[in-house]
Amino acid sequence: MKQIKMVINADDKLGHVNREIYGHFSEHLGKCIYGGIFVGEGSPIPNIHGIRKDVIEAFKAIRMPVLRWPGGCFADEYHWKDGIGPKEDRPCMINTNWGGVTEDNSFGTHEFMELCELVGCEPYIAGNLGSGTVQELSEWVEYLTFDGKSPMADLRRKNGQDKPWGLKYLGIGNENWGGGGNMEPEYYAGQYRQYRTFCRNHSGNKLFAIACGPNGSDYHWTEVMMKNLKAFDWMADGLALHFYSVPEWNKKGKAVEFSEEEYYELLNTTNFTDELLRRHTQIMDHYDPEGKVALIVDEWGTWFEVEEGTNPGFLYQQNTMRDALVAAISLNTFNRHSARVKMANIAQAVNVLQAILLIEGEKMIKTPTYHVFDLFKDHQDSDCVYCYTSNENLKEGKNVPMISSSATVKDGVMTVTLANCSLTEEAEVDADLYGFSGSSVSARVLTDEVHAHNDFENGDKVTIKEHSAEIAGGKLKVSLPPVSVVQVTIRA
Ligand code: AHR
Repeated sequence: MKQIKMVINADDKLGHVNREIYGHFSEHLGKCIYGGIFVGEGSPIPNIHGIRKDVIEAFKAIRMPVLRWPGGCFADEYHWKDGIGPKEDRPCMINTNWGGVTEDNSFGTHEFMELCELVGCEPYIAGNLGSGTVQELSEWVEYLTFDGKSPMADLRRKNGQDKPWGLKYLGIGNENWGGGGNMEPEYYAGQYRQYRTFCRNHSGNKLFAIACGPNGSDYHWTEVMMKNLKAFDWMADGLALHFYSVPEWNKKGKAVEFSEEEYYELLNTTNFTDELLRRHTQIMDHYDPEGKVALIVDEWGTWFEVEEGTNPGFLYQQNTMRDALVAAISLNTFNRHSARVKMANIAQAVNVLQAILLIEGEKMIKTPTYHVFDLFKDHQDSDCVYCYTSNENLKEGKNVPMISSSATVKDGVMTVTLANCSLTEEAEVDADLYGFSGSSVSARVLTDEVHAHNDFENGDKVTIKEHSAEIAGGKLKVSLPPVSVVQVTIRA
């Protein structure tokens, strides 16, 4: 048993944890939308206008705050007008990025906006800068947000939506340093400004415009973008960073069968998130000390080899307790960097990469990663506070602290989330609380062997259980089993 000392100071606030840090991402990729979220109205699977009811309920239960769509890479080849109007008239296209399959556009703007309404989350639309036009994106914004009489508002009404939906989060391009056009940052910055200029704030709607940000540790991209945005009196509210937990792109390894070595390697990569956010933040602070531009991590998560027998272009992978630890480390890191990080979107919501839900026919299972979002949901809209944890590095030569942690406070309730990354050793946590006097405590735990996962035969093998914790004299005591994620709730 390892003794872990913690100090939590509720008077020392590090940042406000926007609920959007617990955001998600759904792309027209593999079976995320079709065969996942959307089954079509004629399906025997219970649905609302084709959107699965079990998916809606599962998204609501973790209080999904924001959903990004339609991509990813797909966004930069998507033409939104193909996805509106009578379904039988919608043209097909080839999904060239993801398996070369035919996209019939039966899930489009109206379907996505209805999904968000049903879930109660903010839509985050990723616009096409790579292969679209300025006019096309400008018109999409008009279609979504203009209340008066105009060509796009009239077209929307003709398609059955009288009132505009309103849209806050608008991405302008995706990975334009790569699949979104292979641009230099200077060139992209110019393109971005041109597109942004014509995305107007109509009818009282106020856009939060998100520019393409760096690929992982490309600090040069951040530098150029920030310099450029500053020179033009900003014009962006957010800069989108993408970072996947992949030790090596040409050696991704399997989702379920992995060695101890691979386990530590993956956690080492995940822990790099902290340095990444710190260094991008430093650059952003230099140009923008007032924090006008948020860092948005709108793609993150694990990326393994696809499951055997599945389409390599569909990025379908299983999800184990290892993924749960990756999620916990990442979310704790985002909380701690919440002064600059204002949104994050795990890739992806259903059946793709580090999915929170896996779906096959009528069956739907919640992955260990889903349960981590459940354990962390009380952090939404709270203040992240100072939290020191005495730690031990689990693997020589790598950065794998045994314990990952963060603490937040909201309305007289402190939420502490902890992950024990040791494969064998239990941790006994002893935390001194300052600036907060707790009178009662409860806890929940997700724990199992590191390869454990849920499947369609047993969807509840890995699931959340009640856990014990004690609070007395300003001290919190809680034990963390090996390979576990724990949520502690302390009430004043
Ligand atoms: O999430 C899968 C893909 O990863 C996205 O489409 C793309 O933006 C990234 O490279």
